[in-house]
Amino acid sequence: MIKVSDFKFVIETNTTSYCFRKLNSGQLEHLYYGEKMDAFDGAFEALCPVNKYPAGNLCTYSKDFPDVALENMCLEYSGYGKGDVREPLVVIRNTDGSLTSDFIYHSYVINRGEHIESINGMPSALKPDEQLKIKLMDRQTNVELDLYYNIFEESDCITRFSKVVNHEDSPIEIVRLLSNQLDIFEGSFEFMNFTGAWAREMNVNTTPVFQGKLVNSSVAGVSSNRNNPFTILKKSDTNEFAGDCFGFNLIYSGNHYTCVSKDGFGKVRVVSGINPDCFSFKLNSNEAFFSPEAVMSYSGNGLNGLSKNMHTFVRKHIVRGKWAGKSRPVLLNSWEASYFKIDEKKLIDMAKTAKKLGIELLVVDDGWFGKRDNDKSSLGDWDTNLKKLPGGLKGICDKINGLGLDFGIWIEPEMVSVDSDLYRKHPDYAVCVPGKDHSEGRNQRFLDFTKKEVRDYIVDKICNVLSSANISYVKWDMNRIFTDFYSDSLDNQMEFSHRYILGLYDVIERITGAFPDILFEGCASGGNRFDLGILCYMPQIWASDNTDAWCRAAIQTGLSYGYPMSVVSSHISGCPNHQTLRNTLLETRFNVAFMANLGYEINVSDLSSEMMNEIKAQIKLYKENRDVLFDSDFIRMSYGDNYEWMLVSRDKSKAFVITLSGLSKANYPDCEVKLTGLCDDKLYHFYNIPAKYDIHHFGDLINIVSPVHIRQNSLVHNAVSKFVKMDGETEDIVAKGSVLNKCGVRTHKNFAGTGYDSDVRFYQDFGSRLYFIEEAKND
Ligand code: DGJ
Repeated sequence: MIKVSDFKFVIETNTTSYCFRKLNSGQLEHLYYGEKMDAFDGAFEALCPVNKYPAGNLCTYSKDFPDVALENMCLEYSGYGKGDVREPLVVIRNTDGSLTSDFIYHSYVINRGEHIESINGMPSALKPDEQLKIKLMDRQTNVELDLYYNIFEESDCITRFSKVVNHEDSPIEIVRLLSNQLDIFEGSFEFMNFTGAWAREMNVNTTPVFQGKLVNSSVAGVSSNRNNPFTILKKSDTNEFAGDCFGFNLIYSGNHYTCVSKDGFGKVRVVSGINPDCFSFKLNSNEAFFSPEAVMSYSGNGLNGLSKNMHTFVRKHIVRGKWAGKSRPVLLNSWEASYFKIDEKKLIDMAKTAKKLGIELLVVDDGWFGKRDNDKSSLGDWDTNLKKLPGGLKGICDKINGLGLDFGIWIEPEMVSVDSDLYRKHPDYAVCVPGKDHSEGRNQRFLDFTKKEVRDYIVDKICNVLSSANISYVKWDMNRIFTDFYSDSLDNQMEFSHRYILGLYDVIERITGAFPDILFEGCASGGNRFDLGILCYMPQIWASDNTDAWCRAAIQTGLSYGYPMSVVSSHISGCPNHQTLRNTLLETRFNVAFMANLGYEINVSDLSSEMMNEIKAQIKLYKENRDVLFDSDFIRMSYGDNYEWMLVSRDKSKAFVITLSGLSKANYPDCEVKLTGLCDDKLYHFYNIPAKYDIHHFGDLINIVSPVHIRQNSLVHNAVSKFVKMDGETEDIVAKGSVLNKCGVRTHKNFAGTGYDSDVRFYQDFGSRLYFIEEAKND
């Protein structure tokens, strides 16, 4: 709810308040963002001390307002050149070449329903409850700056974006226009960002905020796996369960920038938006420029509380269309199963086995088009390779459908290989600096989406592909970062990166809009473009090319801070793992993928009958429970050396716990599962589904019990392993939620080198368990 009285502005969500006021000098002073309070009960009086004499050598704003020193104030926006030397929200090169802006309050409006204004050309969050728009005008020029605040009460999120309108007669240049600015009066804070590289996405970094600047940004042309746009500012003593924290994200897929700075007065400022590095935008007379929408949230309940807000926001206001809130089919993807070596027979064989396992969708990944036998050619030539698939896409799709599976394909619409018919015909469609060598990334180049003609071409081509067969899923990949930024369609090359993203959104919108039933999955060499912009069009994203369960647990943990697991897809692949050569149990691989949208990326035609049975049981279990992912809270109980995640249904009738450990320790039998979030008054059944373990895992320890000596990996050992399995432990406890929330559960003890039977927990390196907690009847 937005409340305004006497130039005092209060924005309230379910549990937070955000307050600012207009100063007599015209600027907006930020006063409070935190736990909900009745701000009109004296907060403005309490938070606005008399300030007559600006301290030290601060510059005062003007001779009319000698008491206003912008540098030592909390502000809703900052310009450049009027004494505030911290990070500005906006910098404009005026018609006279000067860079000073002097935006002051003009008016406000509260918009509701159909009057809510949205951003042109960029995706935005759906269905805000209300919108506050504040119009500012530069005191010296005819330039307007509008600040927008959209309120999302239930998720405790506020989004902000800004708009500049040029009312001058000649062009101005936007040097920087960020989306969000949050000033905090004082405090000891830490900044969390999520960094990485290919196959190592979303590492959690926590850095103390010092007097200076911390920057999380991308200049890769994409939001990038180097620095995800989601960031957190937390009080130094905030942990997963308690304390103050603020989350920030951007609904944008290009070069982004978040800077946290602390000044000599202890004031902390967070700004975020389009990266001002190598950016500027020429704005002609009467034109408007929008920044992307930035999201922020406050939680006083620690990082899990903040994640809950962000998850609700993403599920309710970002993900849209037919698949929002709907459980996704279990799929089999051909990539790690056979890479580029696909053909009809192989795919049909895999599909037949997949069907028996309970898989619902077969996805033909890279390699189905042009002459694509490796990554050196054919991007742009979106015609089926008839040597591999003689019946074309329709032929293979019909056959797969005939086997009872849905059919999906991989595409990479933004790219072109130099070795392609498209490039030979239209080298002008590819981004490059004329006359200069181009830097290569995976042997491919970007199509110049700043040009309408190129966008029209690719939209037409991809729409033809998607309507040529009964395609129900598309993986939209993008496998390089930008270099050689240039388009001959632009006067100002500093506009290139942003205009590319605008072009990309146009292309995605037209393609996804034309096929509303298709489930689109975003991908960029894994998580190189895992952001809210993409999620506005595609309800799930391939989080990483790393399918190793242990690494994946870290990646999913990182993602969980800002994104719900319902937008993450996670696959079970073969072992040794293709990225790390690590072996993990199928149980572990399943447990990690269980918490997201499950798929398999393994040659199912080569599976042993034991693995088939195990996978069949996994898929059945997943299908019985997958709905919960879309209406539950994900809670991080611990992470690092051990992971423990909980998923608790919103009605608290069901919960799942995954535990996962790193290297096992000798003589360390104790294990405890911590629990939270259950309803104190409900009675619960805590249980597991006992596993059966292959005797190979016990090596020659088998000889302790075997009447005859068995040589490891001998024919006898292998034969015995077919018939003799080791029973895993059984957990079966009924207890009140209040007890489980307080004490957790001490499970069967781990194997400690002193004996094994079904009362001992077999928990080797990277061991994992999935526990179920269900509301029990009271009788
Ligand atoms: C990168 C993706 O992340 C992989 O999953 C796979 O689709 C390959 N591209 C195909 O080239």
